[in-house]
Amino acid sequence: MKLLTVVGARPQFIKAAAFSRVARRRHTEVLVHTGQHYDAAMSDVFFDELGLPRPDHHLGVGSGPHGRQTARMLERLEDVMRREAPDAVVVYGDTNSTLAGALAAAKLGIPVAHVEAGLRSFVRDMPEEVNRIVADSVSAYLFAPTQTAVDNLLREGHALTVPSLDAPPPPSTLHPPSAGAAGGRIYLTGDIMYDALLSHAPLAATHSRVLDELALRPGGYALATVHRAANTDDAARLERIVDALAMLREPVVLPVHPRTRAALAHTDIEVDAAVRVIDPVGYLDMLALQQHARIVLTDSGGVQKEAYLLGVPCVTLRDETEWVETLAGGWNVLAGADPERILAAARRARPAGEPPPVFGDGHAAERMVEALESA
Ligand code: UD1
Ligand code: UDP
Repeated sequence: MKLLTVVGARPQFIKAAAFSRVARRRHTEVLVHTGQHYDAAMSDVFFDELGLPRPDHHLGVGSGPHGRQTARMLERLEDVMRREAPDAVVVYGDTNSTLAGALAAAKLGIPVAHVEAGLRSFVRDMPEEVNRIVADSVSAYLFAPTQTAVDNLLREGHALTVPSLDAPPPPSTLHPPSAGAAGGRIYLTGDIMYDALLSHAPLAATHSRVLDELALRPGGYALATVHRAANTDDAARLERIVDALAMLREPVVLPVHPRTRAALAHTDIEVDAAVRVIDPVGYLDMLALQQHARIVLTDSGGVQKEAYLLGVPCVTLRDETEWVETLAGGWNVLAGADPERILAAARRARPAGEPPPVFGDGHAAERMVEALESA
């Protein structure tokens, strides 16, 4: 097969690296970078660390309002897809690059494979929710990371293929493929970020020096990330989050997303010295920082999952999460942007035992490639 993969934003480089490693064993892959993220710390570092091949096409779209950014991607993707004529287009997650990749391919009649299909926040004014719903609705292959994602897609009328994870699904989800009215076939694959984490955690342990560089003691600091539009575009909300971080009992490290840095620069919000604002870090340093934190506070989807997979308690700086499995057992607590809730959640965070294995077995990429091969 000739597969065309569309990436553009930080988490997509991590997911695509795990997929590419498996897909390229038997198939040809054309890698397209939309250029949505372009700073070295948001893009190049992941290509270097994860061994992701250089893009065959770089569309150089850059930042901009949603419509303009997506339109530029669509225009350039259509040209590339026409020229490359792939057998399928692979898109990841819920960014504008996902939306553009899915839409451009669907309009050209090329089957779309959506990695991380079926996630829903049920908040329609969240930009990512629109992107997910549209991408899922035009996809032929819906690669669902969790049973919750499968259930969401079934409710929307997609059809489940025989699940390939070892654990049998509950009887309610055993619909034959013909049961779906919508266009896509659901495959319960497990989460590809778990594949990435498993293959890179040992490297992070041996190669990352970030704790020494920042003079951090394992278990003696909190790690925070903030970048959601809802938290950064509202200065009052951002200020409440930053103030709450400063009131935690331990030092806080905040690798700051460029969107958040820009938001802080455009307001008079003062970040207390207890919060160390650093540039975004590479994947290996991020894994090391998460693994040794006493607690993670974040509005990132990927970081919520990684904290869970690493067995580190998480406080989510949102009022809802797509990754509802992480809430069970108290491994993740929703605290919004309210300092009292954030501090109470951070104090209480002592879940017992191990987080249940809800994200598959770390072989999601294999299942995806097999699904594409069997079609
Ligand atoms: C995007 C995704 C979000 C994802 C996040 C991952 C959309 C709608 N949002 O959000 O779902 O969680 O990526 O990190 O697709 N900027 C830079 N340098 C860069 C990239 C961005 O300075 O390399 C700044 C620009 O000011 C830009 C802003 O960050 O306007 C936002 O970037 P954008 O890609 O539009 O959205 P993200 O907030 O990164
Ligand atoms: N990440 C990273 N460096 C950072 C912040 C995050 O490598 O400074 C990684 C993180 O470990 C996870 C992914 O980026 O694998 C999450 O991306 P992000 O939070 O930007 O987006 P989201 O997952 O919310 O879409």
